[in-house]
Amino acid sequence: MSFPPLGPSDFTADLWSALQPSTSERGRGLRALCGGAYALPLLVPSACERWLTEIAQARSRAPHSEPPNSMHDHGVDLVPLGFGPRLDALLLRLQPLLARLYPHFDGAHLDAHHSYLVEYGRDLDESLAWHADDSEVTLNLCLGEEFSGAELTFLGLRCREHMQTRPKPEEVLSIEHEPGTLILHAGLHRHRVEPIVSGTRRNLIVWARSTRLRRGTPPPAASYCPLHA
Ligand SMILES: [Fe+2]
Ligand SMILES: [Zn+2]
Repeated sequence: MSFPPLGPSDFTADLWSALQPSTSERGRGLRALCGGAYALPLLVPSACERWLTEIAQARSRAPHSEPPNSMHDHGVDLVPLGFGPRLDALLLRLQPLLARLYPHFDGAHLDAHHSYLVEYGRDLDESLAWHADDSEVTLNLCLGEEFSGAELTFLGLRCREHMQTRPKPEEVLSIEHEPGTLILHAGLHRHRVEPIVSGTRRNLIVWARSTRLRRGTPPPAASYCPLHA
């Protein structure tokens, strides 16, 4: 992956301060949610608006783009629209943080991704049933716009063997998305999207993957799974 320069408006200073544990302890930057999921203020509002504008422009030039996968009727795959280099850069910028937060998921070596826009609204996707992602780590960044509902609900991290087991009460946590804030979680951290009540929510989803982990080196660990301890 190359490392193209980013404009100063792409990221807030919070991204860098979040890498320091002392600042996150003060409540700025990185915030732990549950089960190894985190929230991180990442983009200023004008950067969110710019992303949405650029994505809309790219879609208008490619009107027949397909939804990104079988879970969605709406949304769009972003790499074919030309956003690959920017997404590569985002992943590289976050790599030190991902290495620290996700050692069990090869966070230091996330070198590939499937990245797409999701769209929730009464006329778009309305909700999403529980599932795990085909990623080592998922980056879920709310870009806007105005909405209520469509919370992200976590349902416990599990290894594949224990994927169908019930979540414990303390593992169930609903997060209200805020534009500009990135949610980070392991791909195997089960989750769903609650029904949208009003407005439109558009989020960038990055399924970050480790080529070497998928080839079996290093072998996958299961110690992150509470039923596997
Ligand atoms: Fe998901
Ligand atoms: Zn397990």
